[in-house]
This record gives sequence, structure tokens and C-alpha cells, in this order.
Amino acid sequence: MRLVNSKYYEIVNEIIENANLNGKKCIDATLGNGNDSLKLLSHLGEDGFLYGFDIQDIAIENSEKLLNKHNYTNYKLIKDSHDNLDKYIKDEVELVIFNLGYLPRANKKIVTKANSTISAIEKSLELLSDTGVLIVVSYLGHEGSFEERSSLEKFLKNIDQHKFLVEKREFFNQVNTPPIVYLVAKRC
Ligand SMILES: C[S@@+](CC[C@H](N)C(=O)[O-])C[C@H]1O[C@@H](n2cnc3c(N)ncnc32)[C@H](O)[C@@H]1O
Repeated sequence: MRLVNSKYYEIVNEIIENANLNGKKCIDATLGNGNDSLKLLSHLGEDGFLYGFDIQDIAIENSEKLLNKHNYTNYKLIKDSHDNLDKYIKDEVELVIFNLGYLPRANKKIVTKANSTISAIEKSLELLSDTGVLIVVSYLGHEGSFEERSSLEKFLKNIDQHKFLVEKREFFNQVNTPPIVYLVAKRC
């Protein structure tokens, strides 16, 4: 088995597999085509529940189709910006995932934005359980992506170290701006 990862989803998979999600609540803050949601639901068990957010109809439709096809019913897909998540969720959550950028094979101009992303992360951290984890996957290349990365890093770097641990995982020798995965958990 290779011990060093080469793809962002290998890191995400490792976190999801090691988190104890059975019976817990999770948030997919950027539904897209529903792939992250599908992965999360496979670890939640019948008593777990997933909330998914996206601002595009096509993302809600594609995700609904995918989750339905796999016979999941323990989820709610919400067509709203993730920075409104506190309007819909009051309970503690075990895992929150942000997969930033644009929806593949759709309008590349509809992208996540620094301000709403950071506000949504702040709100997610309020809901995070003591054992929970927040994952942010950040890409470069689309419109506004450099500003988003830089604001995101400034925000994450300044999270109170006495309250939270923040880890940054990057593919150090890969060319062409590979994605970076950030992980946040409570320091208990
Ligand atoms: C890279 S895609 C997500 C990929 C997805 N997780 C998957 O597994 O297919 C980013 C998604 O974020 C969505 N998005 C952009 N701004 C948003 C916002 N403010 N709130 C929620 N979703 C947003 C886009 O519409 C797009 O579908």
C-alpha cells in the first residue's frame, strides 16, 4: 500500500473512513454532482442524516438522482447558499465538507466565493461536535480562485489555536496548482 497520497480524494476518503460517522449528521456544503454526499451516506448508516447545499438547480437534480439511485432516503438537499446553513441546521454535526470551485461540466462562472465560503465555515464550526472534522478542498484556476484561496488561508491561519487544530495537506512537488485539502477539528 502506498503511504503518500497523490489525489485529493484519497485524503478525503481516508478522513471519511476514519471518522466515526455511523448514526451521525453531516453536511455537504457544495453538493455539485453529489459524489461526496454519496460517499458520506455510505458511512452514516440508517440513523445518520445528510444535509446538502448548492445554489444551482442542476446540482440539486444531479445529486437527488444519484442518491435516489442508491436508495438513500436519509438526506435533505437544500437549494440555498451554504452561508445560510444555520437557518436549516441546529444540531451537532460530525463532518462538514466543502469542495470549492465550479460544477464540472456546467457553467464555470458559477463558483464558490471567499466571503460566503468563510461565513459558512464559521457557521459550520459552531455546529461541529467535539470529535468532528471539517474538510475544505480548494482549487486554483477558475475566476476568483486566487482571492478565495488567499482569504481562506488568512481565515484558517487565524483560527484560535487553543480552540481548533487546522491542518493543511498539499501535493508539494506536483506542477499545475494541485488542490489543497484543509482539515479543521476542535482541540479537546
Ligand atoms: C466543485 S463543485 C462540488 C463537487 C461535489 N462535491 C461533488 O461531489 O460532485 C462546487 C459546487 O459548489 C456550488 N456552490 C457555489 N457557490 C455555492 C454556495 N454559495 N453555496 C452552496 N454551493 C455553492 C457550485 O454550484 C458547485 O456545484
